[in-house]
This record gives sequence, C-alpha cells and structure tokens, in this order.
Amino acid sequence: MKENSVNPGREHWSGQLGFILAAAGSAIGLGNIWRFPYITGENGGGAFILVYLLCVAFVGLPVMICEITLGRHTQRNPAGCFAQLTPKSSVLSHFLGGGMILTGIALLFFHSFGWGIAALVLGGLVFWQSWRLVGLMGVLTGFLILSYYSVVGGWAIGYAIKAAGNHLAFTGVEQAQETFDNFVSSPLPVIGFHFFFMLLCVVIVYKGVQKGIETACKVMVPLLFIIMLVLILRGLTLPGADAGVRFCFTPDFSKLSAQGVLIALSHAFFTLSLGMGAMITYGSYLGKNENIFGAAVWITALDTLFAILACLMIFPAVFAMGFEASEGPGLLFQVVPAVFNQIPLGPVWAVLFFLLLLMAALSSGISLLEVVTAYFVDERKWPRHRAVIGTGAVIFLLGTLCAISLNNWNALPGIQEAVTACFGGARASFFDLIDNLTSNWMLPLGGFFIALFTGWVWGTRKAIEEIRHGSKNFADVHLLTLMAGLKDDPSHNSSKHPLTLATLWGIFIRFVCPVAILITFLHTIGWLNLTP
Ligand code: TRP
Repeated sequence: MKENSVNPGREHWSGQLGFILAAAGSAIGLGNIWRFPYITGENGGGAFILVYLLCVAFVGLPVMICEITLGRHTQRNPAGCFAQLTPKSSVLSHFLGGGMILTGIALLFFHSFGWGIAALVLGGLVFWQSWRLVGLMGVLTGFLILSYYSVVGGWAIGYAIKAAGNHLAFTGVEQAQETFDNFVSSPLPVIGFHFFFMLLCVVIVYKGVQKGIETACKVMVPLLFIIMLVLILRGLTLPGADAGVRFCFTPDFSKLSAQGVLIALSHAFFTLSLGMGAMITYGSYLGKNENIFGAAVWITALDTLFAILACLMIFPAVFAMGFEASEGPGLLFQVVPAVFNQIPLGPVWAVLFFLLLLMAALSSGISLLEVVTAYFVDERKWPRHRAVIGTGAVIFLLGTLCAISLNNWNALPGIQEAVTACFGGARASFFDLIDNLTSNWMLPLGGFFIALFTGWVWGTRKAIEEIRHGSKNFADVHLLTLMAGLKDDPSHNSSKHPLTLATLWGIFIRFVCPVAILITFLHTIGWLNLTP
C-alpha cells in the first residue's frame, strides 16, 4: 500500500493498472450491456450512437479528468471534497442560488406550485450549503441509482438460474417476451434476487474494496470481452444480420429527437460513472505518482469499446430473428437467450453470459455503494460496518419499491397512491421515475456543477498543478510536439507552451462542457428551441 502525504492513513490502489481496472469495472456495467443497446434501439440507431460518441469525447472525458483530479487532490469522498474546497463565499454560487429563487417566484406566479416550491427550496439550499451541495447531491444520487440498479442486477441472477435449468430455450419472439414480462412482474423472486445482489455488494464493500475489486476486474473484464466476441460472431453469421450492422452504423438524423440528444448526454455520464462523485471517490485512493490523464483516456476508451461491442452483439440478432429494436429494457434479456439457442451448448454459454453480466453489474454496484459508505465513514464518523449495512438496508428497501412498481403495485395496497401523491401523476412506474430523475437530471446537473466548480471556483490552475504530478506531458509539452511523437526531442521542447493538453482541457472544462450541458437542458425543458 502506498502512503500519501495528504491523508496518510488512506488505503490506495496497487498502482496505475489497478486503478484503471477498478475504475473501468465501475464504468463498464449494466449501462453498457443492458441500457445502451435498448436506448439506441429506442432512439433510432446510428445517429444516436454518433451523438453519444461526441458526448463521451467532448464532455465525458474532460469531466472524468476533473473528477479524478478533485478526488486525488482532497483524498476524500465527494461531500468531503467539496466541503474542503468550497471557499468562504462564492459569487457564482450566490448568483446561481439567487437565480433559482427568482425562477421559483416566477413559477409560483404562473401557478406552477410544485416546481416553484422545488426551485425555492433548492435556491435556499444553495445559499446555505454553497458548493457543498454538489457533493451531497452526489451521495444522494448514489443511493437512488443503486436502488434500481440492484433490481436489474437481480434480473441477471434470475436469468443465470433460468439458463442453468434450461428454461430459456425460446422458439420464438413472443415466448421470449412473455418469459421476461412474467419474470419481471413476479414480485417474490425479483425481490429475492435483488436482495441477493445487494448482499453481494454489501459483503464486498464491507471487506474494503481495493484488493477485491482489483483482482476480480483483472479476470472479469477480459472474460466478458471473450464471451461477447463469441456472441457477436454468432449474431453476425445469422442470415439477415447485416440489417443490424447497418442500423448501428448508418446515421439517420431524421430519427433523432431533442429528447434523444439529452438521453445520449445523460447516458455518457451514466456509463462513465460520472456526475455524482464515484470517480472522485476512486480518485481519492490514487497515489500521487500515477498518471491521471492517461488513466482517464484508458477508462473512457474501454467503456466505449464495451458499449459498441454490446450493440454489435445485440442488433444483428435483433434484425435476423425478428425482434423489435425498440423493445425497451427487456431487449438484452430476450435477445441474448434466443441467440444462444442457435449455438451448440447454448445453455452453458447463457449461464456464463449472465454470470458475467452479474459481475459487471457488481463491480459497478460496489462503486455506488462505496461512495455512500465513504460519506458516512468520513463525514459522519460511522464505523465502516455500520455505514455499509445501514445504507445497504435502506437501498434495498427503496429498490423493493422499484421492483414492485413494475406492475405489481396491487401487492402493496396504498403504496402506489402514496407515491403518486408525492411525485405527481406518475403514469410511469416508480422504477422509471427514479431512473429518469437520476440519469437524465441529477447526473448531468452534477457534471455541470463539477465542471463549473473546477473551472471557475477552485480554478484550472490548481487542478492542472495536481494533474502534473504523474503526467508531465499533459501540462508541459506542446500539443503538436506531442502528436508528432517528438516529446523527447530537445529542439522541440522549450519550457513555455501556450498550447498543451492542459490548456485544451481548461477550455473544455470552463466553456465547452458547461455550455453543452446547459444547451441540452434548456432545449429539453423547452426554453430553447433549436429544431427548425
Ligand atoms: N457506469 C455504470 C454502468 O455503466 C453504472 C455506475 C456505476 C454509475 N457507478 C456509477 C453511474 C456512478 C453513475 C454514477 O453500468
């Protein structure tokens, strides 16, 4: 274990590779394999993938660098990190808080009471907590995401067991759909598997994650890669598969809506585990000599690779076998068993696949639980076991509500009315509500404020000073020199350069990322209309 000057007692990753694999383990999860293909299907394919890639490169990567830097600099959980760096008084936060309060008053004026009061409360909180609110919001987001994430993780366990009993030998599309619908809406098994998934998360986080995650990820990520390749090969060789490849790689912008752009941006945050401080937490276990920029590029690239592979795994088979691309959350669970039916030893592969899906979900789930745990341990001084078990239990209960909200409200009389009363005319299920609230609103907002804070309050200069430890090329070599491979050539190296990766990153963090996120938001809530 490496000691660190800022916080000597804190445990650290074994090194650069350990960190990259653990962070990639957090990033690669249900977001890549389950969620990305179905939102791609719902939003029209190629054009959506293109927008998503732009979001990852121009917004995701800079924010990823930002979060890791904040974490390593403060060596604390997100709430502690913002508490430490928030200045006594910040003009920008007063400005934002004032803006929210004025918006709240305006909304009340227009009889939009729910949103008006929400804006007033939020504005008040901003005045009270200033930038600390960003860290606290991150911890809350972790709670909410893990509650429904764990339900889907439970589905993977359920499907692994079904596959082992050879109950997934579908002969047609309808059968696959029926099996999925029946499974998801049978409360007891789903809650049981959800409990089991949470239990696994709790056990791993309880023991301390570093050793566990690091070793697990070193085995798991390559294994997942191989199994996916097998599935891709089988899918591509089915007759009619080329329609699926065309669907993924031929952009048709007429199928892309404004809502689709917001979903692409939000998904970039979700899939990279950004916007709530998971990477701040993981970065806080990083030693001073590691290369932040290099690690961020690796994590982002690996995550993107797995997302594209997942689409190649699913869509050729979808088109070849007559599924609907816009099937929604059940897509993966219906298509994959159907493809396995087409190869020898199908059930064996299927069991293996769902077990790996479970592990991918686990290595992400523990990163969510770790954020919440680190908060209670660092800030509330709870012993680690109490923090893990307590938060795990609360998340389990919340997740149970998500699970039964998928058309089983009548199993708990009165609950649906209570939820509807709290959250308005929720025609969507509680599951969708939490998913939508966290991924489409809280994560991009969190990312927005993290970028704003680093760029304008803490300051890019201090951030770059932190990144410089471990990656000199980032701050001190001219971009063109770097691109030409001449960084070791003395004649191309002087000590002052205006154009480096660092200056480029600073511009992205101060301008490009916040503006891109803001435009997407304003567009979504209808205050800005860019469609002709
Ligand atoms: N990135 C993970 C996935 O794609 C999910 C995840 C883990 C996450 N930690 C997170 C999402 C933190 C947002 C924030 O499945």
